[in-house]
Amino acid sequence: MRIADIQSHIDHELVSKQQIEDLIQRTATRISGDYQGKNLMMVAVLKGAFNTLAALSQAVTIPVQIEFMSISSYPGRKTTVSEGDIEIRMDLGCDVRGRHILIVEDIIDSGYTLHWLVNMLRSRGAASVEVFALLDKKVRHEVEVEVKYPGYVIPDEFVVGFGLDYDERYRNLDSIAVLKSDEYLDQEQNQNQGKHS
Ligand code: PRP
Repeated sequence: MRIADIQSHIDHELVSKQQIEDLIQRTATRISGDYQGKNLMMVAVLKGAFNTLAALSQAVTIPVQIEFMSISSYPGRKTTVSEGDIEIRMDLGCDVRGRHILIVEDIIDSGYTLHWLVNMLRSRGAASVEVFALLDKKVRHEVEVEVKYPGYVIPDEFVVGFGLDYDERYRNLDSIAVLKSDEYLDQEQNQNQGKHS
Protein backbone atom coordinates (compact mmCIF):
# COMPACT_ATOMS: atom_id res chain seq x y z
CA MET A 1 0.00 0.00 0.00
CA ARG A 2 1.24 3.48 -0.89
CA ILE A 3 0.54 6.95 0.49
CA ALA A 4 -1.68 7.70 -2.53
CA ASP A 5 -3.97 4.82 -1.54
CA ILE A 6 -4.77 6.40 1.85
CA GLN A 7 -4.10 10.08 1.13
CA SER A 8 -7.14 11.33 3.06
CA HIS A 9 -5.78 9.80 6.29
CA ILE A 10 -2.23 11.10 5.93
CA ASP A 11 -0.85 14.49 6.90
CA HIS A 12 2.53 14.09 5.20
CA GLU A 13 5.20 11.56 4.35
CA LEU A 14 8.13 11.55 6.77
CA VAL A 15 10.49 8.88 5.38
CA SER A 16 10.07 7.75 1.77
CA LYS A 17 10.29 4.18 0.47
CA GLN A 18 13.56 5.15 -1.24
CA GLN A 19 15.03 6.58 1.99
CA ILE A 20 14.11 3.39 3.83
CA GLU A 21 15.73 1.25 1.12
CA ASP A 22 18.89 3.41 1.12
CA LEU A 23 19.30 3.20 4.90
CA ILE A 24 18.67 -0.55 4.96
CA GLN A 25 21.15 -1.12 2.13
CA ARG A 26 23.87 0.96 3.85
CA THR A 27 23.23 -0.81 7.16
CA ALA A 28 23.17 -4.24 5.52
CA THR A 29 26.57 -3.59 3.94
CA ARG A 30 28.05 -2.72 7.36
CA ILE A 31 26.41 -5.71 9.03
CA SER A 32 27.57 -8.12 6.31
CA GLY A 33 31.16 -7.03 6.96
CA ASP A 34 30.93 -6.89 10.75
CA TYR A 35 29.40 -10.36 11.09
CA GLN A 36 31.30 -12.23 8.38
CA GLY A 37 31.79 -15.81 9.64
CA LYS A 38 29.98 -15.12 12.94
CA ASN A 39 26.69 -17.03 12.48
CA LEU A 40 24.54 -13.95 13.16
CA MET A 41 21.10 -14.26 14.76
CA MET A 42 18.59 -11.47 14.02
CA VAL A 43 15.89 -11.03 16.64
CA ALA A 44 12.77 -8.96 16.01
CA VAL A 45 10.03 -7.98 18.42
CA LEU A 46 6.57 -8.50 16.93
CA LYS A 47 4.71 -6.97 15.37
CA GLY A 48 6.21 -3.66 14.30
CA ALA A 49 9.64 -4.93 13.25
CA PHE A 50 8.42 -7.50 10.70
CA ASN A 51 8.98 -5.30 7.63
CA THR A 52 12.35 -4.00 8.79
CA LEU A 53 13.56 -7.50 9.58
CA ALA A 54 12.40 -8.81 6.20
CA ALA A 55 14.11 -5.98 4.29
CA LEU A 56 17.35 -6.06 6.28
CA SER A 57 17.70 -9.83 6.24
CA GLN A 58 17.26 -9.88 2.46
CA ALA A 59 19.78 -7.07 1.96
CA VAL A 60 22.68 -8.68 3.87
CA THR A 61 25.09 -10.92 1.99
CA ILE A 62 25.63 -13.45 4.79
CA PRO A 63 23.36 -16.26 6.02
CA VAL A 64 21.45 -15.29 9.19
CA GLN A 65 19.21 -17.07 11.67
CA ILE A 66 15.88 -15.27 12.15
CA GLU A 67 13.97 -15.34 15.45
CA PHE A 68 10.94 -13.53 16.82
CA MET A 69 9.71 -12.54 20.25
CA SER A 70 6.43 -11.13 21.43
CA ILE A 71 6.27 -9.09 24.61
CA SER A 72 3.40 -7.64 26.57
CA SER A 73 2.17 -4.19 25.66
CA TYR A 74 -0.13 -2.44 28.10
CA PRO A 75 -2.77 0.15 27.14
CA GLY A 76 -1.25 3.54 27.82
CA ARG A 77 2.20 2.05 28.18
CA LYS A 78 3.78 4.84 26.16
CA THR A 79 3.35 7.17 29.09
CA THR A 80 3.43 4.78 32.01
CA VAL A 81 5.77 1.96 31.06
CA SER A 82 8.80 1.07 33.08
CA GLU A 83 11.18 -1.82 32.65
CA GLY A 84 9.39 -3.91 35.26
CA ASP A 85 6.17 -3.75 33.22
CA ILE A 86 7.58 -5.77 30.32
CA GLU A 87 6.70 -9.45 30.16
CA ILE A 88 7.41 -12.12 27.58
CA ARG A 89 4.32 -13.28 25.66
CA MET A 90 6.19 -15.49 23.18
CA ASP A 91 9.80 -16.32 23.90
CA LEU A 92 12.62 -17.15 21.50
CA GLY A 93 12.57 -20.78 20.50
CA CYS A 94 16.33 -21.19 20.79
CA ASP A 95 19.35 -20.94 23.06
CA VAL A 96 21.30 -17.68 22.72
CA ARG A 97 24.36 -18.72 24.72
CA GLY A 98 27.51 -17.80 22.83
CA ARG A 99 25.55 -16.31 19.93
CA HIS A 100 26.05 -12.96 18.21
CA ILE A 101 22.67 -11.23 18.19
CA LEU A 102 21.37 -8.21 16.30
CA ILE A 103 18.05 -6.88 17.59
CA VAL A 104 16.04 -5.39 14.72
CA GLU A 105 13.44 -2.80 15.70
CA ASP A 106 11.09 -0.50 13.83
CA ILE A 107 11.19 2.35 16.37
CA ILE A 108 12.72 3.48 19.64
CA ASP A 109 10.33 5.55 21.72
CA SER A 110 10.96 5.57 25.49
CA GLY A 111 13.76 3.03 24.98
CA TYR A 112 12.40 0.65 27.63
CA THR A 113 11.75 -2.24 25.22
CA LEU A 114 15.29 -2.25 23.89
CA HIS A 115 16.90 -1.58 27.25
CA TRP A 116 15.06 -4.57 28.69
CA LEU A 117 15.71 -6.82 25.68
CA VAL A 118 19.45 -6.11 25.45
CA ASN A 119 19.88 -6.84 29.17
CA MET A 120 17.75 -9.98 28.97
CA LEU A 121 19.72 -11.44 26.02
CA ARG A 122 23.05 -10.62 27.71
CA SER A 123 21.88 -12.26 30.93
CA ARG A 124 21.09 -15.40 28.92
CA GLY A 125 24.70 -15.56 27.80
CA ALA A 126 24.75 -14.08 24.30
CA ALA A 127 28.28 -13.42 23.04
CA SER A 128 27.25 -9.99 21.75
CA VAL A 129 24.03 -7.99 21.47
CA GLU A 130 23.74 -5.02 19.10
CA VAL A 131 20.80 -2.97 17.85
CA PHE A 132 19.44 -1.67 14.55
CA ALA A 133 16.36 0.55 14.77
CA LEU A 134 14.83 2.05 11.64
CA LEU A 135 13.38 5.08 13.48
CA ASP A 136 14.36 6.84 16.68
CA LYS A 137 12.18 9.34 18.55
CA LYS A 138 15.18 10.61 20.49
CA VAL A 139 13.25 13.34 22.29
CA ARG A 140 11.09 10.63 23.93
CA HIS A 141 13.90 8.54 25.43
CA GLU A 142 13.57 7.79 29.13
CA VAL A 143 16.44 5.32 29.28
CA GLU A 144 19.64 5.24 27.29
CA VAL A 145 20.04 2.57 24.63
CA GLU A 146 23.30 1.95 22.80
CA VAL A 147 22.46 1.69 19.09
CA LYS A 148 25.30 0.44 16.91
CA TYR A 149 23.32 0.74 13.67
CA PRO A 150 21.20 3.90 13.92
CA GLY A 151 18.23 4.77 11.73
CA TYR A 152 16.39 8.03 11.09
CA VAL A 153 15.88 10.38 14.02
CA ILE A 154 12.28 11.59 13.81
CA PRO A 155 10.24 14.18 15.72
CA ASP A 156 7.61 13.23 18.27
CA GLU A 157 4.75 12.82 15.79
CA PHE A 158 2.22 10.02 15.30
CA VAL A 159 3.85 7.90 12.59
CA VAL A 160 2.56 4.84 10.77
CA GLY A 161 3.81 2.56 8.01
CA PHE A 162 6.52 0.02 7.29
CA GLY A 163 5.34 -2.07 10.26
CA LEU A 164 4.10 0.74 12.49
CA ASP A 165 0.37 0.83 13.14
CA TYR A 166 -2.42 2.92 14.48
CA ASP A 167 -5.05 0.62 16.01
CA GLU A 168 -3.60 -2.28 13.94
CA ARG A 169 -3.97 -0.38 10.63
CA TYR A 170 -1.37 1.00 8.22
CA ARG A 171 1.41 -1.51 9.01
CA ASN A 172 1.43 -2.41 5.28
CA LEU A 173 2.16 1.14 4.08
CA ASP A 174 5.46 1.04 2.15
CA SER A 175 6.85 4.28 3.66
CA ILE A 176 6.65 6.17 6.97
CA ALA A 177 3.98 8.86 7.27
CA VAL A 178 2.44 11.17 9.85
CA LEU A 179 -1.20 10.41 10.46
CA LYS A 180 -3.73 13.26 10.38
CA SER A 181 -4.52 14.14 13.97
CA ASP A 182 -8.31 13.96 13.44
CA GLU A 183 -7.80 10.28 12.57
CA TYR A 184 -6.87 9.34 16.14
CA LEU A 185 -8.60 12.21 17.95
CA ASP A 186 -11.97 11.20 16.41
CA GLN A 187 -11.52 7.63 17.56
CA GLU A 188 -10.50 8.70 21.06
CA GLN A 189 -13.61 10.88 21.28
CA ASN A 190 -15.85 8.03 20.06
CA GLN A 191 -14.33 5.67 22.61
CA ASN A 192 -14.84 8.20 25.39
CA GLN A 193 -18.46 8.76 24.28
CA GLY A 194 -18.97 5.01 24.27
CA LYS A 195 -17.55 4.70 27.77
CA HIS A 196 -19.83 7.39 29.15
CA SER A 197 -23.05 6.47 27.31
C1 PRP B 1 6.64 -0.53 19.47
C2 PRP B 1 7.93 -0.82 18.72
C3 PRP B 1 8.90 -1.17 19.81
C4 PRP B 1 8.38 -0.40 21.01
C5 PRP B 1 9.23 0.79 21.25
O1 PRP B 1 5.93 -1.70 19.68
O2 PRP B 1 7.76 -1.88 17.81
O3 PRP B 1 8.93 -2.55 20.08
O4 PRP B 1 7.05 0.04 20.70
O5 PRP B 1 8.72 1.54 22.34
P1 PRP B 1 9.61 1.88 23.61
O6 PRP B 1 10.93 2.40 23.13
O7 PRP B 1 8.80 2.97 24.31
O8 PRP B 1 9.74 0.66 24.45
P2 PRP B 1 4.40 -1.71 20.19
O9 PRP B 1 4.37 -1.88 21.67
O10 PRP B 1 3.69 -0.49 19.65
O11 PRP B 1 3.82 -3.03 19.56
P3 PRP B 1 3.74 -3.47 18.01
O12 PRP B 1 5.15 -3.60 17.54
O13 PRP B 1 3.02 -4.79 18.04
O14 PRP B 1 2.98 -2.40 17.26
